[in-house]
Amino acid sequence: MDRFIDKSAPGAIATGKGTYHIETWGCQMNVHDSEKLAGSLERQGYIRAGGPDGADLILLNTCSIREKASEKVFSELGRLRKLKRTNPNLILGVCGCVGQQEGEEIFRRAPYVDLVIGPRSTASLPALMERVRNGETDVTLRVDTEYRRDSIDFPYEDIRREGQAGGKAFVTIIEGCNHRCTFCIVPRTRGKEVCRELDDILNEVRSLADRRILEVEFLGQTVNAFRDSAGNGLPELLTATAAVDGIRRIRFTTSHPAQMTPRLIDAMAAAGPKVVPFLHLPVQSGSSSVLKDMRRGYDRETYLAKVAAVRDRIPGICLGTDIIVGFPTESDADFRETLSLMSAVRFHSCYSFTYSPRPGTASEAFHDRVDLGEKQARLRELQALQKDIQEQLHAPWVGRTVEVLVEGPSKNDPSRLTGRTPESRIVNFTGRAEIGRITSILVESASAYALAGRKIGDEA
Ligand code: 5AD
Repeated sequence: MDRFIDKSAPGAIATGKGTYHIETWGCQMNVHDSEKLAGSLERQGYIRAGGPDGADLILLNTCSIREKASEKVFSELGRLRKLKRTNPNLILGVCGCVGQQEGEEIFRRAPYVDLVIGPRSTASLPALMERVRNGETDVTLRVDTEYRRDSIDFPYEDIRREGQAGGKAFVTIIEGCNHRCTFCIVPRTRGKEVCRELDDILNEVRSLADRRILEVEFLGQTVNAFRDSAGNGLPELLTATAAVDGIRRIRFTTSHPAQMTPRLIDAMAAAGPKVVPFLHLPVQSGSSSVLKDMRRGYDRETYLAKVAAVRDRIPGICLGTDIIVGFPTESDADFRETLSLMSAVRFHSCYSFTYSPRPGTASEAFHDRVDLGEKQARLRELQALQKDIQEQLHAPWVGRTVEVLVEGPSKNDPSRLTGRTPESRIVNFTGRAEIGRITSILVESASAYALAGRKIGDEA
């Protein structure tokens, strides 16, 4: 899963006035927000530029989950400042979580920025641009970081979906987060949970199916907390989506372990193979005492019990996770608990990070016992273990045939194509295949990170 990627808009050639360029950092939600921003701009008559040079509008859609991500924004702004000198009409905007977190402060640190928008007010982009074009100089008028519902209710016909050519589309179902994990900035940047209505989501899914989309991925910071005004939850949504003709794969991310209910697990099992046999279930730590300090709402045993329940109901399901090492109260023994949990669960994928204190979070005030060198050593040890596990899990796939949704040319070797299995495994392969369709691949080799093979079937 491409959770932490820098996906600058590729492609088209700048055509002078009225071109835009968006740079995106962070999670799938941010990638999808950029698709909404692009749709809004194209509705206003902007054309996508091939890159930042020569663009008339540049938006940085930012991530503030860790300090490094946040600081990158300011160094990128410093770089883009030069373009303002050559093009005085260039409009430069900061969107996303750094916009929300920093607000007007951005104008102080980077006075050449023209507008700032929080992730829940993407729909106010046209109004803010109008203000900038009218020469309004009051910074408070050029920042909109109110938590609103309208970014969820964005007209989906206007979303310019990046992944569409690859046969897949993101669909937001819930925004914000009501949890209060002590390390996490998301409740501050994305606000409280707001859900869409089930019927509205299904209309969007049907319109995607009409446009030959085969895979939908439902998005939310806590996607399994989804509940609409009629009381429909994720179980109802999965069941209803599985009945939509044309949709072949349904994913959802990210689930909170505390809300992984038996009813949801049953609905996943009952909806059949259209709901992919993959679940991203961030554990964060394998130590119950650290989980308590993180305020995760479950302990090691409860998490392991959920994993057992999921595997019992959906045999063969693959699991992914997120882990933070070096949380302020993490002892070496706590860290060993995390390693032992990983050996016990054997995740198919794992995103791991060293702890990074974030402004306004509860853990910012904790006494940090773990120095940076130790944090990094723990991360290396954990990643080496995970690599071994992934190698072992991938090896038996050699010789098997897998169904792959074709995404496009492989990044490392453009003579091959790349795609994903239902379990989200990356497969690079030889042979011709249509992008955005599902095809059969015979797996010939495997590494910790991907499978490789050749096409054997026709696209379906
Ligand atoms: N430091 C390090 N990692 C963090 N994450 C969230 N907040 C922090 C932080 N302060 C990680 C968690 C989360 C993922 C998206 O980012 O593992 O699941």
